[in-house]
Amino acid sequence: MFAGKTLYRVGKALLLQKFFGVSTPLSVTFLTTHICNFDCDTCDIKKFPGKDIETARFLEMIDQVAQAGAIRISFTGGGEPLLRRDLGELIGRAKKRKLIVSLVTNGYFIDKKLDDLKQLDLLLVSYDSSKKLPGDQPSPLGKVLQNAMLAKESGIPVVLQSVLTRDTCLNLESFFDISHRHGFVLSLQPLASWYQGGIIPDSQTPSVEEMRTAIDRILLEKKMHNNILNSVKYLKTVHDKWLQPNSKGKCYAGILYATVTQDGILSPCNPFISNGENKISALEEPFQKAFRRLTSPTCQGCLWNCHLELNQMFSFDTETLFNLILFSRNRIVYRKGKKHLPELT
Ligand SMILES: C[S@@+](CC[C@H](N)C(=O)[O-])C[C@H]1O[C@@H](n2cnc3c(N)ncnc32)[C@H](O)[C@@H]1O
Ligand code: SF4
Ligand code: SF4
Repeated sequence: MFAGKTLYRVGKALLLQKFFGVSTPLSVTFLTTHICNFDCDTCDIKKFPGKDIETARFLEMIDQVAQAGAIRISFTGGGEPLLRRDLGELIGRAKKRKLIVSLVTNGYFIDKKLDDLKQLDLLLVSYDSSKKLPGDQPSPLGKVLQNAMLAKESGIPVVLQSVLTRDTCLNLESFFDISHRHGFVLSLQPLASWYQGGIIPDSQTPSVEEMRTAIDRILLEKKMHNNILNSVKYLKTVHDKWLQPNSKGKCYAGILYATVTQDGILSPCNPFISNGENKISALEEPFQKAFRRLTSPTCQGCLWNCHLELNQMFSFDTETLFNLILFSRNRIVYRKGKKHLPELT
């Protein structure tokens, strides 16, 4: 999943960028579909309109992304990627092109798509109290957890991901308990808006104090049990910069990575998917050509874990690289922490 060859390709892309101004899409996130079976409280992206890319064009684009130098593809949404009937075909094509493939899902249909998912290098299953079926239907979380366990037992590297809302910050112990009981590695993503990098200003936005307390607890959990995927550097950044404007550090959005919406619009990163000025269709020209027309956006910074961890990796931050290598070598398996691990049941 992660090796010296990957580092070599990152180094080469950085040199090409630095000396010749040539950008390489090392990592591409596909929003995959706009359809969703859930109605989660935190999610504003499901309101993003659009028509899903057709299978043949999607497969062609995966080929083009690989040819343009990509190392990794991530399928997320828009909506729920497991609702795409051709998902197995898309993952299969990306694997055939020797890409590292990860997927983010609400987990509800894992049992129906298990064979397709066995090809993945990483399956992120979203698990938090904001996850809801539409209307008054009962909470889907029991089924989501059961399905995550099924995937793990089938040999797929699974991580449980949760959005850091006020509720999650106050209920971290129950999330850690699930990790201890069922042997899951966890990932945390602070509440954000998919539009312009902002934060959804509502009662679920943690205060600075709440976020700092939560991050301190997550750092302790990582230290004691090695069960948190986020790097220490990333967690400390969230601790120090939560709700602080002007927090942009070195960012490779639109230079080494990009996001493609479900209708084929290319953007530098998730928060800029709705940016009118930077709208480039990846359907109307070869991917590499479209990618090279992207520019790095001017922004106030963001705290998206997927983007910041990539920026740290591309900056050759040693702790981030070591963290990644450690989890990759273990194929995201939860290892017993050396200190004070609660009884596994
Ligand atoms: C938009 S969803 C798409 C994939 C899939 N439907 C799912 O829920 O996993 C991708 C990830 O974003 C998370 N998410 C939803 N709303 C968010 C928000 N406001 N801020 C940050 N992450 C959010 C979800 O929990 C999920 O882990
Ligand atoms: S399942 Fe994912 S895409 Fe659907 S509403 Fe929830 S967070 Fe949004
Ligand atoms: S910091 Fe980078 S990834 Fe985040 S919103 Fe700005 S340009 Fe996008």
